[in-house]
Amino acid sequence: MQRIGFKHIFILANKKIMSKNKIIEKYKPVKHNLLPILHELQDSNPQNYITEDDVIMVSKHLNISFAEVYGLIGYYSMLSNKPRGKYIIRICNSPVCNMIGSENIAELLCSELNIGIGETTTDKLFTLEYSECLGHCDIAPVMIINKEIFGNLNKQKIEEIIENLRNK
Ligand code: FES
Repeated sequence: MQRIGFKHIFILANKKIMSKNKIIEKYKPVKHNLLPILHELQDSNPQNYITEDDVIMVSKHLNISFAEVYGLIGYYSMLSNKPRGKYIIRICNSPVCNMIGSENIAELLCSELNIGIGETTTDKLFTLEYSECLGHCDIAPVMIINKEIFGNLNKQKIEEIIENLRNK
């Protein structure tokens, strides 16, 4: 097996910083670009989260405080400052979905993935979260996986969706 030396690690780390810089510098240094920059940084991270280094780079670029950037990540449920799975499954827990059985859907997913809400599978493939209304109440109960909506959920559908993602 090939060993990875310090030089190699340094080159990899440098490449990562350069690609993050590319993302950030695409945006004009104005505050209203904060949310799109954070989304793009998070999407570019295979672990679906925003690192402390990202926050520092963004706050420098936009000339706003670390606390302001960090605060927004904490406030906005689509963003995370903790490593998560490749697939973020967000189950709608708002009234319409709730009446039609979103709790049951959450239980099915917890048992299928063997994790609780807010947890990530040990293979780092799936993270389970609750979400506010996803705007598709007509096909309740609903969940979103990364950016794709799934509705009219039932046990069979959930098993198929998870199986497909596992085999991707
Ligand atoms: S209440 Fe679930 S999508 Fe609207």
